[in-house]
Amino acid sequence: MAFRRRSCSLLLVLLSLLAVGSLAATGPGDIAVFWGRNKDEGTLREACDTGAYTTVIISFLTGFGGHGGGANSYSLDLSGHPLAGVGNDIKHCQSKGILVLLSIGGPAAAGGAGANYSLPTARSAAELAGHLWDAYLGGSRPGVPRPFGDAALDGVDFYIDQPGGTAGHYDELARRLSAHNRSYRGRPGVTLTATVRCAFPDPDLAAALATGLFARVHVRLYGGDLRCEWGQFDSWNRWAAAYPGSRVFVGVVAAPEADRDAYLFQKDLYYGILQFAQKVPNYGGLMIWDRYYDKINHYISSS
Ligand SMILES: *[C@@H]1O[C@H](CO)[C@@H](O)[C@H](O)[C@H]1NC(C)=O
Ligand SMILES: *[C@@H]1O[C@H](CO)[C@@H](O)[C@H](O)[C@H]1NC(C)=O
Repeated sequence: MAFRRRSCSLLLVLLSLLAVGSLAATGPGDIAVFWGRNKDEGTLREACDTGAYTTVIISFLTGFGGHGGGANSYSLDLSGHPLAGVGNDIKHCQSKGILVLLSIGGPAAAGGAGANYSLPTARSAAELAGHLWDAYLGGSRPGVPRPFGDAALDGVDFYIDQPGGTAGHYDELARRLSAHNRSYRGRPGVTLTATVRCAFPDPDLAAALATGLFARVHVRLYGGDLRCEWGQFDSWNRWAAAYPGSRVFVGVVAAPEADRDAYLFQKDLYYGILQFAQKVPNYGGLMIWDRYYDKINHYISSS
């Protein structure tokens, strides 16, 4: 099914306003946004105060596993956002009913250098699970700093982008994190989500998803895979059908600057894509890449 992306006429704009209006009645579902990729996006608190999002995904824990000069070295990259205050912002967001997750991994470095993370052994997976639990979730251990203080995140998003690399032990990581799934520090339990490439299946995360432990799958309909990005809807249906126990999310960029080829005007998203995507029984919502692009383009949020 071919889809026109950039058609623009006054009639269509008017139709789209009607469509957005009618969509608001049913709603696009949950709106998850990535935060932490650009200092100019504003604080986490500001993102939550827009009222536009129901989930915020802090990104990324970029370094772990076999990189960084030792199995136990981890690095959090928030693009220059000061760490002080993020903990309080997390609590503020949670007090508004917003789910706050930490994403691990991230897009492969530009220039094909590959991502700076890996999970080469079951042991490295166990160590990462322990680190996530102690540093960001319900645990605590002497010598393990908690970057966000006593604020506890609601779970972990797996954003693993190592095309051509050897599959890591992300299934083991999921099982280890799931073993902590009980209430902690006022949070109800551990939520696991996966942010996958558009083409089904995604070899980096297939084993992890097969555990059945993931509440959500965010399907990235951008990122250079034009064969897959809404030229045909086949891939979306396959993702949805493969994981009936997970809610599937339509992942889009919020501004053309993020990915000119994959960007969808709002009218096309609401009037075309979502009408189709919402037909699967486990449709969950939208995943927005990212807060910065949304802020400059007013794609989902108005501020
Ligand atoms: C990879 O991570 C290590 C530490 O975790 C860091 O020193 C190094 O600069 C990173 N390399 C790249 C290419 O980002
Ligand atoms: C945690 O428990 C809840 C409630 O039983 C369940 O829905 C969810 O899938 C579990 N998550 C993990 C990661 O085990």
